[in-house]
Amino acid sequence: MGKTVVLVYSGGLDTTVCIPLLREEYGFEHVVTVTVDVGQPREDLADAAERAKILGTEHYTVDARAEFARDYCMPAVKANADYEGYPLSTALARPLIARKAVEVARSLPRVDAFAHGCTGKGNDQFRIEFMLRTLMPDVPIIAPMRERNMTRSEEIEYARARGVPIHQSSEKIWSIDENLWGRSIEGGRLEDPSHAPPEEIFKWTRSPQEAHFAPQVIELTFEEGVPVAIDGQPMAPLALIEYLNQLAGDHGVGRIDMMEDRMIGLKVRENYECPAAVTLLTAHRALEALVCTRDELRFKAEADRAWAELVYAGLWLDPFKESLEAFINKVQERVSGKVWLRLFKGSASVIGRESRWALYDAALASFDDKTFDQSEMSGAVKAHGLPARLYYQLKQRYGA
Ligand code: ARG
Repeated sequence: MGKTVVLVYSGGLDTTVCIPLLREEYGFEHVVTVTVDVGQPREDLADAAERAKILGTEHYTVDARAEFARDYCMPAVKANADYEGYPLSTALARPLIARKAVEVARSLPRVDAFAHGCTGKGNDQFRIEFMLRTLMPDVPIIAPMRERNMTRSEEIEYARARGVPIHQSSEKIWSIDENLWGRSIEGGRLEDPSHAPPEEIFKWTRSPQEAHFAPQVIELTFEEGVPVAIDGQPMAPLALIEYLNQLAGDHGVGRIDMMEDRMIGLKVRENYECPAAVTLLTAHRALEALVCTRDELRFKAEADRAWAELVYAGLWLDPFKESLEAFINKVQERVSGKVWLRLFKGSASVIGRESRWALYDAALASFDDKTFDQSEMSGAVKAHGLPARLYYQLKQRYGA
């Protein structure tokens, strides 16, 4: 049996071009392609399998949707996943994709290398290689696109010259990555940050103009930081995310147009559609605001930011991430209750929240109640700002 390479394969341009490259330039006789289903369009999966067949690889499609929803998207909700305004959709899926490729590799009689289609400019090379290298340290990793420094047009040329079936043409230039947690659109005229995103790039969200004319109120139920029901209807993570992507997307919720600082320091313009993610993160934050103390909220914002940076960098198995999650999960024990959101013309607005753990007492906060004896405050108010008052006096005296 000849040398075998396991290619982490999406069926897109980069990974498709990798197949003949791995044979012709790297001398692998046996190319195994692994496509991991994390919620990308069904046609893409079918296309990937079809191309793999035409190109004669040993192909595997691994359905990891339920696992992705439960073990990746739900922790993201708990940590309010947010990197510079990006809900981390692509970043969350990479470790799982690599993990599944490793599972396939372990089932094969022989593996001489892993290969992936990442270029040298992006974040995915770090994420995928970290996971492959951690789980199978002895298997070398090849990145043909990066090693050969190929541009998109060169790839298209190379594919055409070999009759490799691809969709991309010079007109269809968007680079798209999709999973349950979001859809990313890059490339073409979007590379100019001053160019408004054309309507054609969006597939999951309606524009505010096209969105429903009537607002819709939804009730989200959380248990220990995780959404478990919509409008009283219990739902497993996968079904809940799929349902919300549809519903919130129809209301135009989840469009993000941003500048993003990539790991290597490159600034890029990014467009995302993340209807379920944006809706769930908005609701989750609202519930934390009801049940957590001010100090917890501040500290958690720091922990969440650190968590997001680790996930952005693909360091899914970092000990710091585990430690942060110990804190995050402890806080989540009280993040149970309901949040009401109004979806309307591109926005998901919180209009109510309720929890048995609410650190809120209507009587105490009310203007019309005598439970709290206001006269007892006189002393506390007198002591308020003592150092600042001393400082002011000193400044008067010495004129600093
Ligand atoms: N910038 C985002 C990230 O690094 C999305 C990348 C999308 N990847 C892609 N191959 N189109 O997570």
